[in-house]
Amino acid sequence: MIDIKWDSKFEVGHPRIDAEHRVFVDLIRAISVEADRNCPKEKAMRLLLEVRKYAEFHFVSEENIMLDVGYRHYEEHREEHAWLLRRLEHECNLYYTDSAPLQELAHFMFDWFAMHTTVADRKLVDSIAAHNAAPAV
Ligand SMILES: [Fe+2]
Repeated sequence: MIDIKWDSKFEVGHPRIDAEHRVFVDLIRAISVEADRNCPKEKAMRLLLEVRKYAEFHFVSEENIMLDVGYRHYEEHREEHAWLLRRLEHECNLYYTDSAPLQELAHFMFDWFAMHTTVADRKLVDSIAAHNAAPAV
């Protein structure tokens, strides 16, 4: 089983985005730990609500940064965020109706995080750096 924890490979070099990503990983890890303990469903649903709300907040933060720097790939990046939120709602319903195990949901979230952070978010941060380095006109 993969260990759900922060790794330096997730570091994108933007202090605010990295700080929020760390919280996101902590929240996913908490769900994984509770899944191992077979926690009551009510508790798991509260934690899932927390991670979904945090993801939503964090995505708006990132999207605001994209708008500030005139990010060219704003729409496709925003669609990746929106896709995850839709998928999470679906996966939480599956868990609630006993159609999917909690641990699988935690791993799904962590896999998505690892992929999105190391590809899409890194591309965004490169673009922020280029924007900040460009001479003011
Ligand atoms: Fe993102």
